[in-house]
Amino acid sequence: MPQATAKAPAPWSPLLKTHLTSSKSKSFTLSTVTHHPTTGLPVPRSRTCELRGFFPEVLSLHPSAASALDAQGIDRTPSGLESDMPVFTTDIRMAKVGELGVSGGQVEGVFWLEEVQVQWRVKGRTCVFGGEGKEEEQKRVWEGVRGQDAGLVEGDWDWERMVTTYFASHSPVMRGTFRNPPPGQPRSKHPETSELKIGQKVEDLRDPVARRNFRVVVIKPEEVEMLDLSRAPDAVRKRWTVVRDGDGDTERWEEVELWP
Ligand SMILES: Cc1cc2nc3c(=O)[nH]c(=O)nc-3n(C[C@H](O)[C@H](O)[C@H](O)COP(=O)(O)O)c2cc1C
Repeated sequence: MPQATAKAPAPWSPLLKTHLTSSKSKSFTLSTVTHHPTTGLPVPRSRTCELRGFFPEVLSLHPSAASALDAQGIDRTPSGLESDMPVFTTDIRMAKVGELGVSGGQVEGVFWLEEVQVQWRVKGRTCVFGGEGKEEEQKRVWEGVRGQDAGLVEGDWDWERMVTTYFASHSPVMRGTFRNPPPGQPRSKHPETSELKIGQKVEDLRDPVARRNFRVVVIKPEEVEMLDLSRAPDAVRKRWTVVRDGDGDTERWEEVELWP
């Protein structure tokens, strides 16, 4: 089993994380690709999502989550693991999840961090967790994890517990939205049922209906671009791209400074 080794952070990541700390908003625009319903041609789709942390870190645990996690016997101490892979959560019934398949999981996330006057664009491949565990996706994410405890191996990592912890980071009302009637479907065709209705509060972290719909999406960055407007007109624009070395096994980031 591969180990979580002490790799260096990506060259862009400390800066992005610092900028996010200065930013009140942690939301970003997520773009996917879908097919035009009649022509079949590729068309873009974008929507706002909330950054939940960098895998496996959870940015903010809802106050009610601590006792709920304790009740499940889930350890709340930090895992000692960190990465440069942004995480958002979503509902499997939403269109974006299906759209990931159109592009082979490729997405772009865009942050406009107004307080620091910087735009960040993160392009990469997504891995979706919360349904049936897919070993290939677990392996891909694990490759991007750095561990203080280099002895922890992928096989020891509890993926289900990770999903539960992200679920716990939502308020009971937000958890309840995973028991909403089907998102994006006509109200007239899908009336509320006793199971699926608006305004439910979910305290149980293992609520079977909500958890059936809840997903954790990890973006594994392949290209990152920063546009720093704080020094305009001489704005700083940089692009970092993952390049695989000859053997195909070692990855490194290549940095290019661009005209804005
Ligand atoms: C501030 C804000 C944060 C949002 N965060 C998320 C999120 O983290 N995950 C998510 O699936 N939808 C989030 N949404 C809702 C999406 O923007 C979108 O309306 C919904 O996910 C349906 O998108 P889709 O049909 O393209 O899948 C958020 C909306 C707003 C306004």
